[in-house]
Amino acid sequence: MDVKELTQPQIKQRIDELRKLLQKASYAYYVLDQPTMEDTIYDKLYRELQDLETQHPTLVTPDSPTQRVGEKPATQFNSVRHNVPLYSLENAFNVEELNSWDNRWKRQLTSLNQDEKIDYVCELKIDGNALALTYQNGVLIRGVTRGDGVTGEDITQNVRTIRSIPLRLNIDAFSEGIPERIEVRGETFLPLDVFTQINEERQKNGETLFANPRNATAGTLRQLDSRIVDKRRLDFFCYTLHIPGRDDASIASSQQEALDLLQKMGFKVNPNQRLCSSINEVGEYYQYWDTERLNLPYMTDGVVVKLNSFKLQEQLGFTQKFPRWAIALKYAAEEAPTRVENISVNVGRTGALTPLAEMHPVQLAGTTVSRATLHNSDRIIQLDIRIGDTVIVRKAGEIIPEVVRVLKELRPDGTQPFIMPTHCPVCGQPVVREKEQAVTRCVNSSCPAILKGAIEHWVSRDAMDIRGMGEKLVHQLVDRGVVASVADLYSLTAAQLCGLERMGQKSADKIVNAIAQSQKQPWSRVLYGLGIRHVGSVNAQLLASKFTSVTQISDASRANIEGIYGIGAEIADSIYQWFRIPSNQELIQKLADAELQLTVDLAELAATSQQTTSSALTGKIFVITGTLPSLKRDEAKALIQKAGGKVTDSVSKKTDYLVVGEDAGSKLTKAESLGVAILSEAELLAILDISAKEMET
Ligand code: IVH
Repeated sequence: MDVKELTQPQIKQRIDELRKLLQKASYAYYVLDQPTMEDTIYDKLYRELQDLETQHPTLVTPDSPTQRVGEKPATQFNSVRHNVPLYSLENAFNVEELNSWDNRWKRQLTSLNQDEKIDYVCELKIDGNALALTYQNGVLIRGVTRGDGVTGEDITQNVRTIRSIPLRLNIDAFSEGIPERIEVRGETFLPLDVFTQINEERQKNGETLFANPRNATAGTLRQLDSRIVDKRRLDFFCYTLHIPGRDDASIASSQQEALDLLQKMGFKVNPNQRLCSSINEVGEYYQYWDTERLNLPYMTDGVVVKLNSFKLQEQLGFTQKFPRWAIALKYAAEEAPTRVENISVNVGRTGALTPLAEMHPVQLAGTTVSRATLHNSDRIIQLDIRIGDTVIVRKAGEIIPEVVRVLKELRPDGTQPFIMPTHCPVCGQPVVREKEQAVTRCVNSSCPAILKGAIEHWVSRDAMDIRGMGEKLVHQLVDRGVVASVADLYSLTAAQLCGLERMGQKSADKIVNAIAQSQKQPWSRVLYGLGIRHVGSVNAQLLASKFTSVTQISDASRANIEGIYGIGAEIADSIYQWFRIPSNQELIQKLADAELQLTVDLAELAATSQQTTSSALTGKIFVITGTLPSLKRDEAKALIQKAGGKVTDSVSKKTDYLVVGEDAGSKLTKAESLGVAILSEAELLAILDISAKEMET
């Protein structure tokens, strides 16, 4: 569609149309889990909308699908008071406690007619973080964390990234017009596969792992940069509807009706709810989900039972903390007792010492557990765990086993408190515990444990991708003193490898060849491979596109590094410190001698910039023809791609710009006949300059 020919009302109409189409497709994908539109078509429409909005900024509205991810990180979150407090729920742990709650509320409700039919709505208790959302005239205006129930943090910018939360409600859900204000509550959570992925990434980067999806969700919600939240793919189930000033039953008279209405409004409501007509049926629901929940792609820690009738709810009201009309019926955590046979200390890639309890094997949530992390020395002191102790282990979040408590009454005589070693158990050098840090570290960069970890990271898939260099081979090379840094890999010979266990001439040749091939890996991978704390592969790509050589990043100040969009203070500090260590500078020199790529090449710059920037040129299609006065073809292409544009070979109706140099031929004629905009090199540079400025603001 040629935008220039549209009149203002037509543009507005097209924008509305695009928003509706995109909203519908996104709803089908994220809420119904039934995609209706191909990704490529979605992307194309999205880009068209984005272009129109860029050209007509006054038409941008906060509920536009383009407005989900904020351009600028927040500096802090403001505390806000909830319009209606978020109550917590009373807990019950078995059917007996459920029955006693049932008897209790019935006694409290003196006016209850013995024959009145009681319905209970049973819902799964999603193990995430509660959110309170406010809609004004159908548009999301605020998203707040639970906090202490009375005040929470305003994290609207992060909430907007959650695709299953509508930015605009479906007004068709209301026959008598949409109420001015609508408050909804629900649970945001990380699906288990996303949680696992995040922890894998953190492990690779030497960061502490999230113990369970709930903590990971809370950590994600606290991120100041909504672009990071966007990547984490949070999801949301809605379970409470509140319309201020409309307590009559005209909109919904029961929880069941409210859930139906929430669904019609465009929210994702958990499909596993059930309306039960007796407390026995509620008990069955609880028991059924005790095992069935293990097949769900998200964590649940119980079921929530609510009286269905809003009239009954109102009559019963609240205690100081809880509604009297609901109860959380929780599942016991997966815990079991076992005996600690040893406490060992593992030294990781970053030098962090992690104490591990080695235990008599025990069955937990369907798997055998024989090791559990004790996290750090603070945790050990807190637990006072000793070899010989009987302990309770739990699969926290059904994922990572941990020791919950020590059964001191079963402690045998003669046990000794465990003390963290003062020297690294691998290299024997003194360890360091930084002030106010729980982690104890070995800081000897030639410690074999650190070295092994560093080499395993260097050869890994996302770094230098050296196939055939497995953990066993790396350990042998380090233990025999053949390799003392990643740079030494580049002087390895097949003859040296042949002397190692299970290594024939052929495999040795293959590995030497794979190592040589890795010299061609781009600068961003080399940077990732260095294993600088907090520099994962995404950050490495971002950094490599801004610091186009190792010298640039090595000479950069903390402020320079932090100035990069997407890089926070902690990451900047870690990078800055890394380059101040003399042995790391020596390593860089050795890598340069080994001819690794320590500067960016144009193609990589184009590819990475395309992923990390967006601008007025996003999605614009360029064709270059003829000889440009100063830029080489590749350079012009890289610049366009860096600004988010695309460069193709032939002119068609889809082409937005033809960049023309000397001796342009048939492409120019075709472009003219199709009415494609023609640019000289100078004009191209002018456009790029404008968009570069836009990117900075
Ligand atoms: S109803 C006044 N329903 O559990 C009603 N809560 O332990 C309060 N939760 O703070 C909440 N799934 O964060 C309700 N289906 C569900 C829930 C649910 C998870 C959470 C919620 C609440 C906590 C109470």
